Amino acid sequence: MDLSNVARQFSESVIREMTRISKQTPGSINLAQGFPDFPAREDIKEKACNAIKEDINQYSITWGAKGLRDAIAEKVKRFNRIDADPETCITVCCGSTEAMMSSLRAVINPGDEVIIFEPFYENYGPDCLLSGATPRFVTLEPPDWHFDEDALAMAFNEKTKAVIINTPNNPTGKVFSRKELSYIASLCQQYDCLAVTDEIYEHIIYDGHEHVSIASLPGMAGRTITINSISKTYSLTGWRVGWAIASPRITAEVKKVHDFLTVGAAAPLQEAAAYALGLGQEYYDWLAAFYTRARDTLYDALQETSCLVPWKVSGAYYIMCDCDEYMARHGLHASRDLAIHLLKNAGIATVPGSSFYSDPSDGDRQTRFCFCKKDETLERAADLLRKVGA
Ligand SMILES: Cc1ncc(COP(=O)(O)O)c(C=O)c1O
Repeated sequence: MDLSNVARQFSESVIREMTRISKQTPGSINLAQGFPDFPAREDIKEKACNAIKEDINQYSITWGAKGLRDAIAEKVKRFNRIDADPETCITVCCGSTEAMMSSLRAVINPGDEVIIFEPFYENYGPDCLLSGATPRFVTLEPPDWHFDEDALAMAFNEKTKAVIINTPNNPTGKVFSRKELSYIASLCQQYDCLAVTDEIYEHIIYDGHEHVSIASLPGMAGRTITINSISKTYSLTGWRVGWAIASPRITAEVKKVHDFLTVGAAAPLQEAAAYALGLGQEYYDWLAAFYTRARDTLYDALQETSCLVPWKVSGAYYIMCDCDEYMARHGLHASRDLAIHLLKNAGIATVPGSSFYSDPSDGDRQTRFCFCKKDETLERAADLLRKVGA
């Protein structure tokens, strides 16, 4: 019996696989998958417990509890200059993962193309395949991960339905500038296509960089789907609450796909998410300061190795490294062998660079470290890295 030809085209997530291998390696530190190893805020957890005790146990409205949609609308007005009617423009989903899938499935037709900047968060490839889109890739070039404007313009054509933007970016740490986003916006308007923007690291930003939502740029509100979640901003990756914001016309389609895919996100956790979204500016200032310290600890430790060379990070909580020297020293040729070597010999799990590229060999000299960890974990990782450099 033949199984799905679509599912056959992609493999298990390498990021999640590295987490599993790390768990089987006693004493190792998992700097592969991007989830915090510290507790979430007590007040947010208490809201979730209270919601369960108050018997908010049944399905919420399929496109999201009213209180959460109101909180999302208020927050995006405050931080992103986006006007979103909570009744017609917001779909609450099971994490931004489902928000991206529901959004693409709601807008893609067979033969449509979707532009993806690479290196890219590995879900976007299967997202395109599962929604029937053909991905076209545009390279972000280190060390500053800029894109070539002409190469981007060449990728657009009459089949282009959408461009996926992820800012701040996983895995590169790039924060797309207003100028870059304006250029992307002009191409979206010229080719009558959508921007689908994953902004889950919007508050994890360093060195005075500015997070700009492309939906807030002139002419873009009607042609942008803005995706976000509570996973990274509030360190709640396991709660699976996210959302998509778009025009009423697009949202009507997203809501239907979402309903039949998942019915809805966990009802009591939506109540707690609504509370979290109302936190004041001091929380977001604390978050950025906390991660700046974490970034500096890991970045400095990597630099000291002189064989794992980190690229500069402006946002999100990952560091991509050029591992040429390390690989030469140890006779390694592929980033998967490099990641396994680092895990077995240095005790640190990372994600092979190959998993972020359409042609895996483009990432073969790279690996990604995450630093969403408590101080003591990163200090332990820094100690292990000192031995790598010795
Ligand atoms: C860029 C990006 N988008 C989406 C996700 C998944 O987000 P969620 O937990 O909201 O599904 C991740 C997780 O690492 C990510 O890095």
